[in-house]
Amino acid sequence: MKLRTISDLLTQDYVRSEVDIKGWVRTFRANRFIALNDGSTLNNIQCVVDFETLEESLLKRITTGAAIHIKGELVESQGKGQKVEIQVTCIKILGDSDPETYPIQPKKHSFEFLRENAHLRTRTNTFSAVMRLRSALSFAIHKYFNENGFHNVHTPIITGSDAEGAGEMFRVTNLDAKKPPLNEEGHVDYSKDFFGKETNLTVSGQLEAETYAMSLGKVYTFGPTFRAENSNTSRHLAEFWMIEPEVAFMDLAGNMDLAEDFMKFVIKYILKNNREDLDFLDARLQDEDKRKPQNERNDMSLIEKLNFVTDNNFKRVSYTEAIDILRDSTPNKKKKFKYIIKDWGTDLQSEHERFLVEKHFKCPVILFDYPADIKAFYMRMNDDGKTVRAMDILFPGIGEIVGGAQREERLEVLKQRMAASNIPEEELWWYLDLRKFGTAVHAGFGLGFERLVMFATGMSNIRDVIPFPRTPQNAEF
Ligand code: 4AD
Ligand code: MG
Repeated sequence: MKLRTISDLLTQDYVRSEVDIKGWVRTFRANRFIALNDGSTLNNIQCVVDFETLEESLLKRITTGAAIHIKGELVESQGKGQKVEIQVTCIKILGDSDPETYPIQPKKHSFEFLRENAHLRTRTNTFSAVMRLRSALSFAIHKYFNENGFHNVHTPIITGSDAEGAGEMFRVTNLDAKKPPLNEEGHVDYSKDFFGKETNLTVSGQLEAETYAMSLGKVYTFGPTFRAENSNTSRHLAEFWMIEPEVAFMDLAGNMDLAEDFMKFVIKYILKNNREDLDFLDARLQDEDKRKPQNERNDMSLIEKLNFVTDNNFKRVSYTEAIDILRDSTPNKKKKFKYIIKDWGTDLQSEHERFLVEKHFKCPVILFDYPADIKAFYMRMNDDGKTVRAMDILFPGIGEIVGGAQREERLEVLKQRMAASNIPEEELWWYLDLRKFGTAVHAGFGLGFERLVMFATGMSNIRDVIPFPRTPQNAEF
């Protein structure tokens, strides 16, 4: 007999057939009803055992968390709460679970507690729903690019260059930490290191993706990226996943169109294909909301928020316009912002981004044409000589979810920008080559995958949307 999943049993017509299922016990009540889950769906299947025919010793081993194998007949359920159930004819304990010490009890646990038990937290409804959605979003992303003629490029994880020029990188080395070889000046001699030079974990696959865009046309990379920034916030990870498309002959306007179309596609995909998990998370959030003071409650349910993104145009606003709006805003005048906006040229903090999205425009916003001084060296300089063709997409509840730009394709201008940022030309000779041999307008962006998953699931801490979060002082599991 083929081993079926609980999802199969609940969605296809197997009534009156013999079924065979394996999973983990969620609850066992009245020595009779096992709620079994196998991860294929949020829903458990109810398995009804005839305790009179079961040995006492076996009965005792049906505990929360135990892995079991069930055979029986799928029948229409007599009770409320489920359409079908299994009348068990044979039960086998595959792996016992000690009910005294099993951390995931059938009750509400705090997210903090579950983070400490990240190896078991996907046995809860909330985390299994979040992780199934994460998987579906990942699939939808590949599907979008595949259907739109993009090629997937695996950019390197170990790199010799700092793509963002921000110096927030993790070093990769196999030198002896206690006694590294030193050069004549007494500094660590990286020419003796594994790669013969200093290397780091990548902060972005963009620069390498650009080289592929300049031959394959439309490409994207989707991989892990690493940042050693010491920001212990609910929106930052030291290891996160990024989706970075890069397109030849596309300008900033095209980049905005692509990003908007892409974001709408992946959200529509989960609305269509993952409704059960979304509805569960929606209900969870509404329940959480009820316990909050009126002014902190969400104006929209999760599903409404997702529909809102797919149904509305993203508002496109220049940095300069945004600064004017922020300068004149009530929280700025009343000094409610932690960082008061005074002059053109200051970087926006997440409180400003969220004000624009949540209070002012009340829809996703694409900010563009930022001051060159606060953006990376590779962004294309505008004719005004002070702004670059950058774009950030801001989402409600998240702030910045996408960062991108049209790239500087003019060799001389790029060299000047690199010099201004103290980036040696030798380090990026190959990047400069792209501007020597068939250079062309091109653009791309980076979407922080975990920020997308946060938005799609309504989870408020980024640590709860990645299986094993890496943050300052924390790399357990
Ligand atoms: O804005 P960022 O730094 O842009 C880049 O890395 C570009 N090279 C992308 C490109 O144009 N190809 O990062 C892009 C996105 C951010 O908008 C944010 O969503 C996410 O990556 N991000 C983080 N997510 C989690 N933890 C962090 N520490 C993040 N840093 C950036
Ligand atoms: Mg950014």
